[in-house]
Amino acid sequence: MQSQQHQDTATPAGIYDWLLGGHHHTRTDADAAITALKTFPFLCGVARANRDWLQRVVRFLVAGGVRQFLDIGSGYPAAGNVHEIAHEHAPGARVVYVDREPATVQAGRTMLAAAATATCIEGDLRSPDAILNHPEVRELLDFDRPVALLMVSVLPFVPGNATDLVDRYLAHLAPGSYLAVSHATAADDEHVRRQQVAACDRYNADVRGTMTLRTREEIRDLFHRTTLVDPGLVPVADWRPDRAHTPRTHAAGNGIDSSHALAVQLGAVGRVPEPGQEQHGNQR
Ligand SMILES: C[S@@+](CC[C@H](N)C(=O)[O-])C[C@H]1O[C@@H](n2cnc3c(N)ncnc32)[C@H](O)[C@@H]1O
Repeated sequence: MQSQQHQDTATPAGIYDWLLGGHHHTRTDADAAITALKTFPFLCGVARANRDWLQRVVRFLVAGGVRQFLDIGSGYPAAGNVHEIAHEHAPGARVVYVDREPATVQAGRTMLAAAATATCIEGDLRSPDAILNHPEVRELLDFDRPVALLMVSVLPFVPGNATDLVDRYLAHLAPGSYLAVSHATAADDEHVRRQQVAACDRYNADVRGTMTLRTREEIRDLFHRTTLVDPGLVPVADWRPDRAHTPRTHAAGNGIDSSHALAVQLGAVGRVPEPGQEQHGNQR
């Protein structure tokens, strides 16, 4: 656990680290996570399912030939980081992690001190030009070739028009690039939704930065310039599962079918089409 001295407000990065069983969070992060968990007992399962999804996505992309990754809102290092998964299959793959939380960047840079093809920089998702023109991004990534842009569970922390923001990144990506997004949405099940909204309100009271749930349509709209890869936008646990998923049982409790609760985290991968093929993209 980190020292408490510089942080007296919980952060999304610290809470997520606690939910995943990591060791980068503060006591304040742990307390906020436990409070949210009391209201919405499925949070650990949702976080685990999200992280597992990220790893499956990276495997899928590497298998498809992608060798460059820009992971924005990357959080603290955790088991199965993007560069580790990518390097298992493609040792030369290049990875840039970006997060606005200085403590995560410090931890990332420590982890990557000896890495030649991966780095971690401080940046705010809302400032695409600063990120895309950052010297370390330019040094590692070649935007004339496909890049996988990962925005995994970060857009809920960016209120406002996320589609226009994502479009500003996509405008810089070569055909054959990919966009991968996971995002929280309100549960269909009313009982789960009530718990979820209460936990979200509690979270927003305790945490630096506000979490916004978006509708399924709003999340799908983020991909309007891409062609969605099968199976499209689905609960992350249902996206190309490669084994029986622990979260479905892990999250059971309170008499609620955990699949309702896990369905609050949606994920999709879209491919940037070749010029002239835009009509096959997902139009708004
Ligand atoms: C829930 S964590 C997700 C971590 C990682 N992407 C994953 O899914 O395993 C959200 C991360 O987004 C970061 N974040 C939130 N708003 C951001 C912004 N505007 N720009 C960059 N990072 C941001 C937080 O600091 C945190 O590390």
